[in-house]
Amino acid sequence: MHIPSEAFPTLNHHYFNYGGQGLLPSRCIEALHQSQLHLQSIAPFSNAAYAWTTQITKDLRNQIATTLKIHPNDLTLTENTTAGCNIALWGLDWRSGDHILLTDCEHQGIQGIVNEVVHRFDLTQSTCPVMATLNGGDPIAVIRNALTPKTRLLVISHILWTTGQVLPLREIVELCHDRGVQVLVDGAQSVGVLPLDLGAIGADFYAFTVHKWWCGPQGIGGLHVRSDQRESLRPTTIGWRSVTTDSEGNAAGWESGGKRYEVSTTGFYAFPAATMAIELHQQVGSNAERYQRICDRAAYLWNGLSQIPGIQMVKSSPPESGLVAFQLDSAKHRQLVETLEAKKHFVRLLANPHCVRACTHYFTREADCDSLCREVAEAIG
Ligand SMILES: Cc1ncc(COP(=O)(O)O)c(C=O)c1O
Repeated sequence: MHIPSEAFPTLNHHYFNYGGQGLLPSRCIEALHQSQLHLQSIAPFSNAAYAWTTQITKDLRNQIATTLKIHPNDLTLTENTTAGCNIALWGLDWRSGDHILLTDCEHQGIQGIVNEVVHRFDLTQSTCPVMATLNGGDPIAVIRNALTPKTRLLVISHILWTTGQVLPLREIVELCHDRGVQVLVDGAQSVGVLPLDLGAIGADFYAFTVHKWWCGPQGIGGLHVRSDQRESLRPTTIGWRSVTTDSEGNAAGWESGGKRYEVSTTGFYAFPAATMAIELHQQVGSNAERYQRICDRAAYLWNGLSQIPGIQMVKSSPPESGLVAFQLDSAKHRQLVETLEAKKHFVRLLANPHCVRACTHYFTREADCDSLCREVAEAIG
């Protein structure tokens, strides 16, 4: 696998926060600048600008759809993962008493949406203990036991952002569909990591972002809504991008595909940079090759960290993703994260489980992992 050395200019520090945000490749930084120049040169509100915006939107939609193996018409371009989850959670035709099941590992932003939806529509919610299956146990059985006759929706992450556990999503979707339960997937940590075929997984709604593992610019994400779910998922936030117009220019109906959940003016100028980021990864290696490399690097780091006295790895075997979580016997996790940041090693603190998370990408160098291990050992020694 060949990674162009100039691809990620900021690699002169030791970056392990891809689960929060990726590093923007040099060519994407340049593309952001060029986009703005181009837009000003053709006049930002003009027929030419409209045609350009239409083209770059189409390019991005096609790039994402090809990579995730979905039809472009089923893709909604959003701002981030959370925006996609909002579209699904607010758009469903809720009935009083419906039940939403979440895992105990969902992100607080998504929990917040569910809390409000439950309040507004008089629903119920519960969580099921998936976190405890990290080192043994069956997440499918945990979910099966937690479904009730009233469950309408399961909200679940494909990769758990805290522990890096990859859930058997296809089987979980099958189980839920057998029970008449729809599935909303939080793909914040899986898109750009796993070789994904969203069509084959069959989830009803799959939300994700470009700015984390795909290393694209901030403010661009997506939502895949299975085509047979579209008519029943009503748009909630609406604007000129959602509607078709009649001969007098008045709103006449919904766009036929996933565009109906897109709203209005956004940072279109960043779309070419997003398309470019995804293309760059494809040029380096296939989705499967890059995933394997992410896991190899995570295993390398996991091995290094696990040899340091005073450290317990959260997962008892090497991770199946790029998320490596560890705990200190001293529990002084915040202090460690701050000490490391002062030495240009970027990791993050997590609350539950209380731990430190370091992420490896396919281009993370072994030397970076070695350096992190040295700094951790020094900081806690
Ligand atoms: C599992 C999970 N869901 C949602 C989010 C929020 O993502 P976004 O900023 O794309 O909305 C994160 C970000 O850390 C996450 O890890």
